Amino acid sequence: MVHYRVHRDADWTVNPDTGKLVPDPKFMVLESDFLAMRVCGPEEARNWQRKYSIQCECVKKIRINRLMKSSEITDEFKLLGFQNFKTKGKAVIVADMKECAMDYYKEFEKIRSKRANSMALLGQPGSGKTHLMMAISNNLIVKKGVSVHYFPYVEGFNDLKEDFEQIAPKLERMKNADVLFIDDLFKPVGRGVNRKPRATEWQIEQMYAVINYRYLNHLPILVSSELDVDQMDEVDEALGSRIYEMCQDFTVVIEGDRKILNYRLVGLNDV
Ligand SMILES: Nc1ncnc2c1ncn2[C@@H]1O[C@H](COP(=O)(O)OP(=O)(O)O)[C@@H](O)[C@H]1O
Ligand SMILES: [Mg+2]
Repeated sequence: MVHYRVHRDADWTVNPDTGKLVPDPKFMVLESDFLAMRVCGPEEARNWQRKYSIQCECVKKIRINRLMKSSEITDEFKLLGFQNFKTKGKAVIVADMKECAMDYYKEFEKIRSKRANSMALLGQPGSGKTHLMMAISNNLIVKKGVSVHYFPYVEGFNDLKEDFEQIAPKLERMKNADVLFIDDLFKPVGRGVNRKPRATEWQIEQMYAVINYRYLNHLPILVSSELDVDQMDEVDEALGSRIYEMCQDFTVVIEGDRKILNYRLVGLNDV
């Protein structure tokens, strides 16, 4: 931290990124200079009573790098933000989903300790669910110093299958991160009538333990899934109802023509 003294005549303005009041730098002096009486003599000192501290940029950067590393967000995903999510010429539901994600990010500090503090983007693959939740996660880490843990459901459980020793510490991290992002929960296998959620008893048990812990302790989750809430209920009712309750203020279900909604198919004909 760097400590300053601020003159009583200084103007204070709100920093739009942090929402905190900051003084006009012209009226700030280093605390060490003030104490050494390089700023003024004792008779003037009462004009410099207000203290103000700033976290040194390098400390902030180290903290953000540490948070990024522990989030397990890959380099490719670090680039996903709101600014590179397009809505022009897209279905209305895509714009709604972006607005909902941006609202969630803006409201985050206000709602984070409430029960309904979470978000769910459900439905159509390729519609941008992962992109938008990555945008929320990246912004939370970089701008607000919030710890996010990224858990891609399929790959995450595959890794755990191969390394039993990792299970307990991984579950601890999933329980205790400020925000847990579960991507593609119960991602279905098969198509048409053969389409079925991917969930073993053991996976359901672990997900329930994590989500119920976060539910009880008012810790937010971001959930993306191709299943809607009813289909999640069919996998496990207790788990589905927790997710429903936590995400009730920020849930978007994307349904419709996959040729329009699936970004991966944009520009392809006859798919
Ligand atoms: N509206 C959009 N603007 C820009 N890129 C998008 C948009 N929607 C999707 N994408 C990109 O398309 C790909 C698929 O999106 P993704 O978020 O993975 O979809 P989902 O998670 O819904 O399956 C990603 O590379 C993503 O960055
Ligand atoms: Mg996805």
